[in-house]
Amino acid sequence: MNVPVHYRIAGASASEIAASIEAGVRASRLTPGARVPTVRELARRLRVSPATVAAAYQRLRARGLLAGQGRRGTRITHRPPLPTRSPLDVPAGLRNLADGNPDPRQLPPLPSLPRERLPRLYGRGAQLPELVDRARRQFAADGIGGDVAVVSGGLDGIERVLAAELGPGDRVAVEDPGFTGVLDLLLALGLVAEPVRIDDEGPLPGDLERAFGTGVSAFVVTPRAQNPTGAAIGEKRARELRSVLDRRPDVLVVEDDHAGPVSGAPVTTLCPRPERWAVIRSVSKSLGPDLRLAVLAGDPALVARVEGRQRLGMGWVSHVLQRSVVALWDDRRVTERFTVAASHYDGRRRALVEALERRGIAAHGRSGLNVWVPVPEEAAAVTALAERGWAVRAGEPYRLRTPPAIRVTVSTLKPSEAERFAADLAASLRPARSAPTVR
Ligand SMILES: Cc1ncc(COP(=O)(O)O)c(C=O)c1O
Repeated sequence: MNVPVHYRIAGASASEIAASIEAGVRASRLTPGARVPTVRELARRLRVSPATVAAAYQRLRARGLLAGQGRRGTRITHRPPLPTRSPLDVPAGLRNLADGNPDPRQLPPLPSLPRERLPRLYGRGAQLPELVDRARRQFAADGIGGDVAVVSGGLDGIERVLAAELGPGDRVAVEDPGFTGVLDLLLALGLVAEPVRIDDEGPLPGDLERAFGTGVSAFVVTPRAQNPTGAAIGEKRARELRSVLDRRPDVLVVEDDHAGPVSGAPVTTLCPRPERWAVIRSVSKSLGPDLRLAVLAGDPALVARVEGRQRLGMGWVSHVLQRSVVALWDDRRVTERFTVAASHYDGRRRALVEALERRGIAAHGRSGLNVWVPVPEEAAAVTALAERGWAVRAGEPYRLRTPPAIRVTVSTLKPSEAERFAADLAASLRPARSAPTVR
């Protein structure tokens, strides 16, 4: 793909040229994957020196907007860190199985908080001791010690840990397929993703070992409710992975336990480790994404760095949110509902996986909110399903080297709908599957 002719990159200095390209990406006039002109070509066109254009491209590369260079050309990255489109472009009228959300009916109402006698001011403790105390006890019950920090959600925790320990150009082992948020974040931080294939039991130990051979500095892993495949690490796989990790104590391990008690799989962990580890537990799926809160356990040096940096920017996670989580965790009616929610999601995943199986379609969904269905062609499957009234996510943003699939969020999918969905997917795959082989 070449630069669309209707977008003219402009500018007389490196910063103007970089700003012009960034504006083109933001306005979706330079699309992900598009090739930008060579340094010489653009320099000639803009009547500036090649060094000026090279400096502009270097700036954009560092920001994660451009990738590659040399003979294969420099391109707009597939996931530039800009809001190029709304994350949820579900056309009106389609049944939305695309958004990865929990079922709102499985989330508790916000608690009413007792009024504080005095408003909170600057200069007080960042963490609410009651929250840290409860988090520490929950981690300890799973054999996880370390220090505890409070962050603004799972992805915020991952970002803070990676930013505290790594620098641009560092390689990070990630699940393939894996959560788009993490893949996009790596690009935005100038980090390089090294894919590790997974099965229903989590990352493949041999693949992790191979990734370590490429010089990775960190490994981001989802122990359960893996997004998009639903993989959950069992005890045996955890032992195998630990033995690979034990040989590399220098590698930072970041565990993203984003669905926690509603994931539908028991806790397994590859942590704690002697150093360089963090386990992040978000409340987004169990209490609601709008609480924007996660608790993070990690080795003391790492937690201190995360907290130190946090204080310079946002300062602390609002005590309104911290107190809300404490109130919800202290309410037995809320915590007892976690088991109900977990089995609700379990039932929804099973209904879809079994309905697909009856039609000869293999799918994955051991835990979590999504089912991952390998298909021969993603775009064709997504379009055919949309014609039949369903919105699902194409697998492409989740994949690095693994084959095509679609992601179906099942949190609100009733079993009767699962049957209809499976029949529609089977019908839409049929022509592609029965087409004669072209030699
Ligand atoms: C695997 C995974 N990690 C992290 C997150 C983000 O969670 P949070 O809302 O806590 O940032 C998500 C959101 O769906 C997710 O699927």
